[in-house]
Amino acid sequence: MRTAIVYVSKHHGNTKKLVDAIAEKYEITAIDAMKHSTFDLSEFDRIGFASGIAGSKFYPQMRKIMKEKLPEGKDVFFLYTCGFKTNRYCNAVRKIAEKKKARILGEYGCLGYDTVGPFKLIGGIAKGHPDETDIQKAVEFYAGLK
Ligand SMILES: Cc1cc2nc3c(=O)[nH]c(=O)nc-3n(C[C@H](O)[C@H](O)[C@H](O)COP(=O)(O)O)c2cc1C
Repeated sequence: MRTAIVYVSKHHGNTKKLVDAIAEKYEITAIDAMKHSTFDLSEFDRIGFASGIAGSKFYPQMRKIMKEKLPEGKDVFFLYTCGFKTNRYCNAVRKIAEKKKARILGEYGCLGYDTVGPFKLIGGIAKGHPDETDIQKAVEFYAGLK
């Protein structure tokens, strides 16, 4: 099974830490979507989309990539980091995946250091995240995908 994880991690590289840890342990193709735009996802059986959260959604770049590049009928999963946890951050990307007749395998999200707007004035929130436990849990999530 060929697996790719496409990621957009532009605030503090928080989400990239999850992807890097998975890539260290498992044979996956990690695609930095801020650096590469001409990749083709059709050759992969399973595709992860990994992103920070802005405005309670995966980054706009990631949603655009999914709309433009996710072929129909793939197995997909989601990884994200966020300043504060809610359970709705995957709603929009799930909808895109459903339109592409994807099989959604699951999602994993954890806190990620956040210095946006007023949070900067107080030194940021979710300091130190993702930490070792967050990262380990992401690897376990990946390992448990069926
Ligand atoms: C413009 C902007 C908007 C954000 N909006 C949210 C939000 O709505 N909810 C949230 O939990 N975190 C929000 N965050 C925090 C980021 O999702 C969080 O810091 C994440 O770990 C960044 O990931 P990255 O370093 O991989 O880009 C926002 C960050 C930025 C820069």
